[in-house]
Parts: sequence; C-alpha cells; structure tokens
Amino acid sequence: MAAHATARGVIAAEHAEKREEIVGLLSQAYWMEIETVINYLACSINPEGLRAQAVRESLEQEVAEELGHARQFGERIKELYGVVPGSLEFHAGQFVLQPPAEQTDLAHVIEGVIAAETGAIEHYIRIIEATDGVDWATQDMVVAILHDEERHRRLFEGFLREFQTET
Ligand SMILES: [Fe+2]
Ligand SMILES: [Fe+2]
Repeated sequence: MAAHATARGVIAAEHAEKREEIVGLLSQAYWMEIETVINYLACSINPEGLRAQAVRESLEQEVAEELGHARQFGERIKELYGVVPGSLEFHAGQFVLQPPAEQTDLAHVIEGVIAAETGAIEHYIRIIEATDGVDWATQDMVVAILHDEERHRRLFEGFLREFQTET
C-alpha cells in the first residue's frame, strides 16, 4: 500500500525508508513481547515454595500486560503499512528465562525477569531514538510502554533485594 504523497510525518512518501526501519524495530519488539508472554506464563505456574505465590501472581498480571503491548506493537506495524508476522518467523532468544533446575529457585526466575525487562527497556529506548522528530505517534506509544517495563523491572528488583539481604 502506498503512503500519501502529500502527507506529513512518518506516513509521508518521502519517509518510506524510515518507515521500513521503524516497522523492523516494531516487529522485533512484537516478538520480544510474545516471547515474554510465553516465559512469564510458565513462570506464573512453575515456582514452588513459601514465597513463590507473590512472584507467580505478579507474573500472571504481567502476562496480560505484555500481551497488551504485543497488540499495540502489532497495531502500529499495520498503521505503518507493515504486516504482523506469523509464528514461522519467530526466533527465541530469552535464554535467562528458561525454567530453573529446581522450581523453588525463585532467585533464578526473578533475575530472568529483570534481564527480560532490561532488554525490553534497551530496545524501546532504541525505538524512541529512531522515531525522534519523525514519528511522534510511535514514539508516544513506546514511551508509555517503556514506563510499564520500568515499573515491572523495579517491582522485581524489590523481590530480588529480599533474597540478597537474607544470604
Ligand atoms: Fe512489555
Ligand atoms: Fe514488562
């Protein structure tokens, strides 16, 4: 689909290349959210033990939030004339969020979540920088999502602190 020749901003015909770059970054963000949904879902079920409940419940809530982010990234891909990819294009990469050997190993899960959130934060800052001065709508959307990820990260930093003061 061709962008309008007289439109301004990121949908302008002259910004075709920039649009392609942004759609690429958004597609990567989309997959990061989907992989996070997969792993947070598992981590909202697997952990066992006295303090596992709080971690499981937090992650259960975040599964819904991350799925919402994936939807937002998908909608924006479409608005920028891209196509939301299918599962055959998926490449997994969240090594740290794989289930631990022992399901009572909460520190492993918490550290994995912090790593996933940190990775998301880094990628979303890249998108915010790439859209600067060209695509304010994507930038605005990603700023809000960045805020969510920083909140998630802070929550799990607090969980980790509890483990560190005990050892
Ligand atoms: Fe997210
Ligand atoms: Fe998150």
